[in-house]
Amino acid sequence: MDPHFEPEYFAHGRLLWRFEGSDAVRFSPRLAWGMVEGAAEISAGAGWLWDPFSGAGLIPAVARAFFASAFVGIAASDASLAAVETTVKNLALVSDLEAAAKRLAHVRGLRGQNPKSDRRWGEVAAYLERLLPNIEAAASIAREARVECALAHEQLPRLAGEAGAALYIVGDAPYGRGSELLGPPIDAIVQGWVDEPSVAYVDLVCTPQQLATLSAGEGVTARSGRGGRARWTYVRA
Ligand SMILES: C[S@@+](CC[C@H](N)C(=O)[O-])C[C@H]1O[C@@H](n2cnc3c(N)ncnc32)[C@H](O)[C@@H]1O
Repeated sequence: MDPHFEPEYFAHGRLLWRFEGSDAVRFSPRLAWGMVEGAAEISAGAGWLWDPFSGAGLIPAVARAFFASAFVGIAASDASLAAVETTVKNLALVSDLEAAAKRLAHVRGLRGQNPKSDRRWGEVAAYLERLLPNIEAAASIAREARVECALAHEQLPRLAGEAGAALYIVGDAPYGRGSELLGPPIDAIVQGWVDEPSVAYVDLVCTPQQLATLSAGEGVTARSGRGGRARWTYVRA
């Protein structure tokens, strides 16, 4: 793991911007790292990374900050406009010095409430300062980023047609508590991915109930993990 990646600061409500309701869809930074790393190893600079359920944009932000050269471009989409707007801000925050300076000023402005909050936001500000060389490096790797408000199954044909490279899908499925799945059920969405020849790879975190509806077969690994989370991975042969 890159020593500049300090997962505790990528946890929800610290370094990255959030939006109203995003508390309910918080995701593990370590897991985000592992998922992006898995896709990056196979893509090796040739494919697009796409997070179809981006929420606040943790997964694409980790990709943009630490794995930019592993992908031709990074795409993120979500059915919620607030989520998409936050993803745009978080992708900028990790790959644009001006956007990072804006976040730094905001974080510094959160101090002055009480000693605990001062310490907390002071640590985030110090981490962001430590991250500036990474942000500068990410800025110098001019990869395309696409962030759009779209339902996952509607965005696939657009991306498959326009990206012009294999798609590496990495995502955290809506699981019902804080984020309801809109549109078709997850098995239909995932089948659409497998049926699309330009999809080279899928790594989806979901619930065990969702996992039970997803297909087995060649290239598929399905496993139930900790904390009620399951994971469905597909690698095209
Ligand atoms: C579990 S959250 C993702 C959280 C994200 N990993 C993060 O760190 O913020 C799932 C997201 O899927 C979105 N969503 C629900 N149904 C969708 C659909 N059919 N297509 C695209 N996005 C959808 C929700 O708005 C929500 O932001």
